[in-house]
Amino acid sequence: MKNILIIGATGQIGSELTMKLRKEYTQGDVVAGYIKGAEPKGELLESGPSEEVDITNTFQIVQAVEKYNIDTIYNLAALLSAVAETKPQLAWHIGVGGLYNVLEIAREKKCAVFTPSSIGSFGPSTPHLNTPQDTVQRPTTMYGVTKVTGELLSDYYAKRFGVDTRSVRFPGIISYVAPPGGGTTDYAVDIYYSAVKGEKFYCPIKAGTFMDMMYMPDALRASIEIMEADPSKLVHRNSFNISAMSFDPEMIYSIIKKFVPEFEMEYKVDPLRQAIADSWPDSLDDSCAREEWGWKAKYDLDFMTKDMLAHLKVKLANEIETPAI
Ligand code: SER
Repeated sequence: MKNILIIGATGQIGSELTMKLRKEYTQGDVVAGYIKGAEPKGELLESGPSEEVDITNTFQIVQAVEKYNIDTIYNLAALLSAVAETKPQLAWHIGVGGLYNVLEIAREKKCAVFTPSSIGSFGPSTPHLNTPQDTVQRPTTMYGVTKVTGELLSDYYAKRFGVDTRSVRFPGIISYVAPPGGGTTDYAVDIYYSAVKGEKFYCPIKAGTFMDMMYMPDALRASIEIMEADPSKLVHRNSFNISAMSFDPEMIYSIIKKFVPEFEMEYKVDPLRQAIADSWPDSLDDSCAREEWGWKAKYDLDFMTKDMLAHLKVKLANEIETPAI
């Protein structure tokens, strides 16, 4: 039986991962951990237990782990890349201090831990095309520094204390349920909202800037499959390159235009986000994930675009009909 705690359960990935875990692990408790001001609502609140769990508060983590006899922790708490550059101290406090809290508790209580890393764990000196699994990791952002530290710390806890830590390096995640919060890849989500709202999109990233991206259903499946993988087959642990698609703003714009011909985009480059994007790989080689635990992405840009537009049309229409009070 699995009893799972998700820290950051109301964020972009957490809100969907919690629901999927509740559907897949019906025998145990899947606890939505949230911070004050980001309480779960609706289906997320009603479909299972939730607890206030601030990753910087060891007491709250221990309490939840003990109360529900937790054996697996999904640690999704982080400040994304662009916002982390504006608050580097807080990004470290959450990304590294928070992870340390989780790992210490996992060591004592014998929990498995999933903590995502990112394409942001690479930097300008990393090979940018088909970036290998094992390569130079010298990021120039605080987000990247926390992710590389997290990878190393998680591997250390696995080797030194036998904590079952596992992880994937997420590309930009594209989804329609909850918005991402302050990442460099967010433009590839925002562009769909503008297209559906009938607004012109001002793109903060230059044409020709390629980054790896992934549709949420693939990201959720990766998060579960890596934790279910046969440990004897894992040569790597923290963290696996995974990839699904790589595109630049021109490519996503032209594919959206196939479905929304009147859609317009203009470039209004954000120097901070552009500098971050330039330091990251264009595309990752995910062959180790394929070999060691059978990873394979299902969704491409074409499918994702159709699906995003269809879901956002319904979501935004509903929001107009039932405005938030
Ligand atoms: N989506 C993240 C960001 O842009 C990258 O992992 O910060």
